[in-house]
Amino acid sequence: MKWLSSLLFSKRNVTQNAAQQNHPTVENTPYKLIGGEQGVRALAERFYDIMSTDPQARDLLAIHPQPLDTIRQRFFEYLSGWMGGPPLFEQQYGHPRLRARHLPYAINETLRDQWMYCMHMALEDTVDNPALKDGLRQSFWQLATHMINQPSTPSQSRG
Ligand code: HEM
Repeated sequence: MKWLSSLLFSKRNVTQNAAQQNHPTVENTPYKLIGGEQGVRALAERFYDIMSTDPQARDLLAIHPQPLDTIRQRFFEYLSGWMGGPPLFEQQYGHPRLRARHLPYAINETLRDQWMYCMHMALEDTVDNPALKDGLRQSFWQLATHMINQPSTPSQSRG
């Protein structure tokens, strides 16, 4: 959450936009700005709707155990805390240890990019606030990049 805060709550945002209610500040958490539980749920659901139907995410879909019901719920619970709302994931399962949880899956740049593609589309569809959308996109990119645990094969990095 530290890096998310530093991106979203950057000095520029706080000082230039303190008077505006739709910019992230320490009080205005991403969780509040996105619309609380309903907004976070919409983003998480849209992400997996896109992942399960868009051919551009086919490799990502292929490594996910089916059905996706449990992960939809857990992703929502994780995002709730990550955005500054109730830490629902942590309350039930302990510290997320997100990178360790992903180690059983071989994640390279191609999968990271497919994950970001789904998130990019989901943000476009569910978040109106441009400052929030940009901040979340950057923070998601950093976190998704941190999940990479395999080098890309030469053919993948060329393509
Ligand atoms: C970078 C590419 C990523 C890939 C390829 C990936 C893939 C996966 C897979 C295969 C699972 C297991 C699904 C299951 O067991 O049902 C999973 C679980 C999960 N992922 Fe990711 N993921 C990525 C990035 C992320 C990011 C950036 C986040 C957070 C913003 C995230 C949050 C989660 C959560 C919360 C779970 C559920 C963990 C649990 O069941 O305990 N993932 N992911």
